[in-house]
Amino acid sequence: DLDLPVPLSASYKGTFAYGTVKDRIPKILTKLVDTCHKQVKNVEELHGKDGCVDALSVVGKLSQLRSEIMTDKPLTYLDDTLPDVHIWNQRFDAYVKDKGQLPTWFTAPWLYIECYMYRKIQGIIHKSKFMSNFDTFMDQKQRALEQSLDAVRSLTKFLHDCTGAGKLNDCNHVKSLFSDFIQISLWGNKCDLSISGGEENAQSTAGPHENLQALHKFVLVNGIDKMWKHLNTVQKNKQVHIDIILDNAGFELFTDLVLCEFLLKTKLVDSIRLHPKIMPWFVSDVTNSDFQWTLDRLESEPLDGVAEFIGSLRERINDKQIQLERSDAMTMFWSFPDAFCRMQKSSPQLYNYLSKSDLIIFKGDLNYRKLVGDLDWPHETPFATTLRGFTPAPLCALRTSKANVMVGLEPGQAERAESEDENWMVAGKYAVIQTWMP
Ligand code: F6P
Ligand code: MG
Repeated sequence: DLDLPVPLSASYKGTFAYGTVKDRIPKILTKLVDTCHKQVKNVEELHGKDGCVDALSVVGKLSQLRSEIMTDKPLTYLDDTLPDVHIWNQRFDAYVKDKGQLPTWFTAPWLYIECYMYRKIQGIIHKSKFMSNFDTFMDQKQRALEQSLDAVRSLTKFLHDCTGAGKLNDCNHVKSLFSDFIQISLWGNKCDLSISGGEENAQSTAGPHENLQALHKFVLVNGIDKMWKHLNTVQKNKQVHIDIILDNAGFELFTDLVLCEFLLKTKLVDSIRLHPKIMPWFVSDVTNSDFQWTLDRLESEPLDGVAEFIGSLRERINDKQIQLERSDAMTMFWSFPDAFCRMQKSSPQLYNYLSKSDLIIFKGDLNYRKLVGDLDWPHETPFATTLRGFTPAPLCALRTSKANVMVGLEPGQAERAESEDENWMVAGKYAVIQTWMP
């Protein structure tokens, strides 16, 4: 693999990776330390002096992590007892063997150190006696949904209005709605809390469904037609099962659920499995308990049919038309630092499962980075090349761009976007709907 491009890394000054490690990550950690510090009193009330000591030690370790990052110290072995710990220590050893030096925050690949940071946080929390189940990002995630409720209501109404009785008989109408709901789920990905350094980033305006026409020109690669044809072809021969690799909680998850409802209601798809993260990840990614909380919270929402919509989702969950993946073995891989081309080796069970899918939808920027290995590919490199053999089944990335990597463009497209906005790759303003089909 001598010809591969270099991985994105904070070693390249002035890049988005550099800015992330230098500014965004310390900011996220400051917030985290603050959140844990606020817990000290609660833990003390519940568990007395021991609780106080325990919580303060968590705060201390997190502050230490922050300072190690800012002073570019080497990473260390993980010494917790989470089930994936050996994976991390293997990756560490492999790096040292390959480079002949220890990985440090500003020199090792960005994907590796950024994932390591979120994993390290979980190790610290897990080792604590009284805070081991504490989700340090939970408040932020929940607040983001609360702040998006107007958009949630408005999107629910949109779904209801355009899929109501008699509205789904016209195939062209369904096709155009398919395009709409894919794009709504795509733009839902703007609302993550990691890009903003943990600042609030909710869907505070009405929502992307109000605005799809105007957003259209920012979709640099648009594989919607290919997906539509593919699903229609598969449907003729068998029950269609798809997988969605989720990204963020909050408004994005809601847009994903709306997409599920549309696909099932129109019978384009017969069953869907959703894949959350096993642990709190990149601030806002969906965990199992975020998923449950979201349903519970929205079920109590009286306006514009939101509660009814959640009710119908619950029925689909009961009928197993929608399933949330819960097994550790199948969920753990999503928080490895690995490019997806390593899945077959590092998580064969998951790879074999996904091989049976009729379509795998990958949400968001981090999944995209892992699809293409977070390497500095020339923009015109075909998407298929960058997957480096990760082709378990037909797949599609729905990604608003928040990192310096973008592949599969036509000649001239990157230059045009760059001339319109020098931050085109990193501001979440441009997007791709990028597919691989056999
Ligand atoms: O820290 C910034 C950032 O890491 C992106 O570059 C990263 O890929 C993104 O946050 C998370 O985005 P998403 O939630 O779309 O995966
Ligand atoms: Mg995310």
